[in-house]
Amino acid sequence: MICPAAAQHINSKKLKAGLSAIDAQQSYLLDTTYMKKKLRSQDWFGGTSATAFGHRTFMKNQGVPDDHFDGRPIIGICNTWSEFTPCNGHLRAIAEKVKRGVLEAGGVPYEFPVMSLGETQLRPTAMLFRNLVSMDVEESIRGNPMDGVILLVGCDKTTPALLMGAASCDLPTLAISGGPMLNGRHQGLQIGSGTAVWKFSEAVRCGSMTSQEFMDAESGLSRSAGHCMTMGTASTMASMVEALGVGLPHNAAIPAVDARRYTLAHLAGRRIVEMVNQDIKLSQILTREAFENAIRVNGAIGGSTNAPIHLLAIAGRIGVKLNLADWDTLGADIPTLVNLMPSGKYLMEDFYYAGGLPAVLRMLGEQGHLHKDALTVNGHTLWENVKDAPCYDNDVIRDWDNPLLKNGGIAVLKGNIAPDGCIIKPSSASPHLMKHRGRAVVFETIEEYKARIDDPDLDIDEHCIMVLKNCGPKGYPGMAEVGNMGLPPKVLRKGIEDMIRISDARMSGTAYGTVILHVAPEAAAGGPFALVEEGDMIDVDVAARTIHLDIPEQELERRKALWMPPPSMAGGYQKLYIDHVMQADKGADLDYLVGCRGVEVKRDAH
Ligand code: FES
Repeated sequence: MICPAAAQHINSKKLKAGLSAIDAQQSYLLDTTYMKKKLRSQDWFGGTSATAFGHRTFMKNQGVPDDHFDGRPIIGICNTWSEFTPCNGHLRAIAEKVKRGVLEAGGVPYEFPVMSLGETQLRPTAMLFRNLVSMDVEESIRGNPMDGVILLVGCDKTTPALLMGAASCDLPTLAISGGPMLNGRHQGLQIGSGTAVWKFSEAVRCGSMTSQEFMDAESGLSRSAGHCMTMGTASTMASMVEALGVGLPHNAAIPAVDARRYTLAHLAGRRIVEMVNQDIKLSQILTREAFENAIRVNGAIGGSTNAPIHLLAIAGRIGVKLNLADWDTLGADIPTLVNLMPSGKYLMEDFYYAGGLPAVLRMLGEQGHLHKDALTVNGHTLWENVKDAPCYDNDVIRDWDNPLLKNGGIAVLKGNIAPDGCIIKPSSASPHLMKHRGRAVVFETIEEYKARIDDPDLDIDEHCIMVLKNCGPKGYPGMAEVGNMGLPPKVLRKGIEDMIRISDARMSGTAYGTVILHVAPEAAAGGPFALVEEGDMIDVDVAARTIHLDIPEQELERRKALWMPPPSMAGGYQKLYIDHVMQADKGADLDYLVGCRGVEVKRDAH
């Protein structure tokens, strides 16, 4: 198994020379000896059988020398590059840097595509396809001759989809995020992805911004490669990658166009080869402790409401027991330290310059909110990676005793219309609405909302509670990000910027407001949320974690007896999805995909 040429190629002294702080951390375990264990890829490429001949000869049509089949680690680079996913449009350039690192460390890289999920272009909603992509990833890994895999992720759903698929296989795995765009700029101000869109579109609707100004802002908002640069879902999930230990330090925040993003990719290429040699599998990284760390980090960064749904799904795949209540018990009292939009003022570029996620992790560790021994992909524990991490700007990354918000995590509410729970992000909500009783204005579908919301005769004021149904996993289908419904113009014109909104939908991580989401069970699955009617009174008490529809029990029973499921005309993948998708409190994965099946393939037709 030991290849002299490759062993010569991996000269740890040379590789260690002149490394930056990041790669010095990740390379201390550099190992120049190949594993004694036969690599998985040798099941394809080893030996003199006709089968092995076939596997090798077709690979050779790409100009591959003989010695690439001699037992070197074969590294798959799973790429979500697509020009229809502009947030991931630069990932082929990132892949080239990964390949350099893999080759330097004595491995052989092969890049492969999977379906890409562009949040802004894909209809009806990228979330509908998260589970489909996870299957694409899982079977691509399982069916191909690779010993380890690098996941190239960026736009919102690409991160959980690839982690879910990889978790089902459990090979040595390392994720690299594409990095955020540079800060948006418009009329001398910093503007943030998504967050600016919601603000500006409401400004146009209430007449305080012209259409021309609105159009001008487009060019200044997205001005470089990379994903949304607010603390939306993409930045949150990039932070989760780093907090879980499945990415290298600083994965979360280095801007996509900063040369250090490419250096990180290069080093990740080296490191995945070492991980194969050391047989460090994803299940050794994604432990219960790692998920608990990630939940606390989500509170500290003011992370997206989409994080629970994705982490619950990833945990389900790898076999870690995690539930929605964990988000409240572990994360709700964590102060939000990171002052980024949509909760705060700054953007991801500022976050990186201020010290990035390592500074936040260090503060959490100092306060006893970190499992310090959690292993990360660079071979160090999480605490070894961050214990000396500096903070350069304590307005961007606040001190523990001067947070942006005291209790910053996700709060989980329960009650008679959400017996399995629903969530709210207090850091994005209005303090005066955290305890509120209001009259329900009900929209049965998103189409009904769009048809009625601008009607001057709509019976609504700022004290009402807007209710949107049938937008959950089965109802939409795919659980679209429509929960942060825009307010009616008649309310906006009064200068009111927030009202309570409740739905079984999700909302964009870049959105804000007092928005209660992910009601479970959803309306389309026959949950009691389906029974809310116009004019009902609803009580919300975030501190008490309750949400209550104030009608007699007998009336609820009467409505339940009359309820009919909405008609479905879905076919193909959509039908499969509706038949098998679990509710939001379980991560909205397909029921038959839960659990790690491992990577081995039992049959080979060749
Ligand atoms: Fe891709 Fe926001 S649209 S990350």
